[in-house]
Amino acid sequence: MDRILVLHGPNLNLLGSREPSVYGAVPLSQIDRDLKKLAEMEGVEVTIQQSNSEGDLVDLIQKAAGRYQALVINPAAYTHTSIALRDAIASVEMPTVEVHLSNIYRREEFRRHSYIAEVSVGQIGGFGPYSYQLGLLAAIHVLKTKSSKSIRRAKSRP
Ligand code: DQA
Repeated sequence: MDRILVLHGPNLNLLGSREPSVYGAVPLSQIDRDLKKLAEMEGVEVTIQQSNSEGDLVDLIQKAAGRYQALVINPAAYTHTSIALRDAIASVEMPTVEVHLSNIYRREEFRRHSYIAEVSVGQIGGFGPYSYQLGLLAAIHVLKTKSSKSIRRAKSRP
């Protein structure tokens, strides 16, 4: 069974009460419950963690190598600042989906650049908590496409 790591960055523990006009009223615990339900329906295993600390997130990504097949991450404010997170993702070579609740391109100028985008397969944002569901489905899709490609490659070997 494929294992997918979901990481939430800083301040996302405050969802529900944090700037509800931007991020909505759904708490992180509800988002996590919904992700676990979706994972069960799709036949994958998810581990979900949140940290406010950049170093902790780097450690979690490094430790994920070889234990998880894909990463879904909302790096929150570190999206726009963290070369360390970008380098950690690049080092583990794990297909990564970047997720945001809000559409970062419709907000302040400083949110329009993501250090994570160029080490991700793709980015999903603007759909509130549903962005996470789409992000998990995207990661599952990437894994399925990858494994069917390697089966095709193996079959075509003489
Ligand atoms: C966010 C967008 C970031 O710009 C912001 O710093 C966050 C949340 C989002 O999910 O929309 O904390 O990643």
